[in-house]
Amino acid sequence: MVDRILSLKKEVDEYQANGPAGVEEFRLKYISRKGVLGELFEALKKMPPEEKKNAGKILNELKQAAEAKFKALTASVVTASSVSGEIDLTLPPVPNKIGNPHPLTLTKMRIIEIFERLGFNVEDGPEIEDDWHNFSALNFPENHPAREMQDTFFIRKDPDVLLRTHTSNVQIRLMESVKPPVRAIMPGRVYRNEAISARAHCFFHQVEGLYVDKNVSFADLKQTLYHFAKEMYGRDIKIRFRPSFFPFTEPSAEIDISCLICKGAGCSVCKHTGWVEIAGSGMVHPNVLRNCAIDPEEYTGFAFGMGIERVTMLRYQINDLRLFSENDVRFLRQFQSVI
Ligand code: DAH
Repeated sequence: MVDRILSLKKEVDEYQANGPAGVEEFRLKYISRKGVLGELFEALKKMPPEEKKNAGKILNELKQAAEAKFKALTASVVTASSVSGEIDLTLPPVPNKIGNPHPLTLTKMRIIEIFERLGFNVEDGPEIEDDWHNFSALNFPENHPAREMQDTFFIRKDPDVLLRTHTSNVQIRLMESVKPPVRAIMPGRVYRNEAISARAHCFFHQVEGLYVDKNVSFADLKQTLYHFAKEMYGRDIKIRFRPSFFPFTEPSAEIDISCLICKGAGCSVCKHTGWVEIAGSGMVHPNVLRNCAIDPEEYTGFAFGMGIERVTMLRYQINDLRLFSENDVRFLRQFQSVI
């Protein structure tokens, strides 16, 4: 018996597996209950006590050696098959975690979908901008506070190079390069030198809208944004236009929708008013058209700029803007099944 065990030990040590089938053959021959180990343990029971002790000890050693060998063989076959590109269909599946679009991307995609059906193109412009496209062409006076260091990240002074503070720069780039009619939305990232809080960040996203043609009126602007709000939030949404001021529009209005987070009861997102501002808008100022070589006697237009973060917060009832950029997968994974 002892001789048999010792020769089996040698066999086990020298065993070479030929692929997954060889590993399985090893398991059946040595380790499985019907294999040699099982058989030897049965035989051990019947041995006289004085021989049993020694035989039991080396049999246990054989058992351990066979199990260690089996582990090593399995590991080498798995690596070999993945290196050689061979597929082993008997291996357990490796969980495949796929990502999902960011909630801001989901909202941007929905906004594009809504406006594309109204005939708006999607346009793009630079995030690093000059003073002309971000401010001057948009009719900002020389000493307007928005130009000051507190709001704008300047990259270089004289001539100015800065991070755009809004997507309105793309309006100018577009009107400089194409003749009306122009009907486009322009999504993108913008930057402002602001303290980070639940309601503000130093970078965020906007969608600019622009429609310039003959006879475009304020009624067109209103209907377009009413339509947008109902498509985005459903028929029951309430929307209001509040008179406002922007240098690049005249008249100007801010657009509020009823707060979907507290349903009008008052919360921190709506500053306890029941209304949340989602966009600025207005009729394109004649000076802006002139700056882009478009005759304001012949053409009129409307424009709007919407905060994508704000629209998303209301859409998914999110109450802290910082969640969008903290990359916490527990937050992001909640949007896995949304599309
Ligand atoms: N650019 C403005 C901002 O960032 C938003 C805006 C207001 C854009 C009115 C427009 C507009 O196109 O007409 O606050």
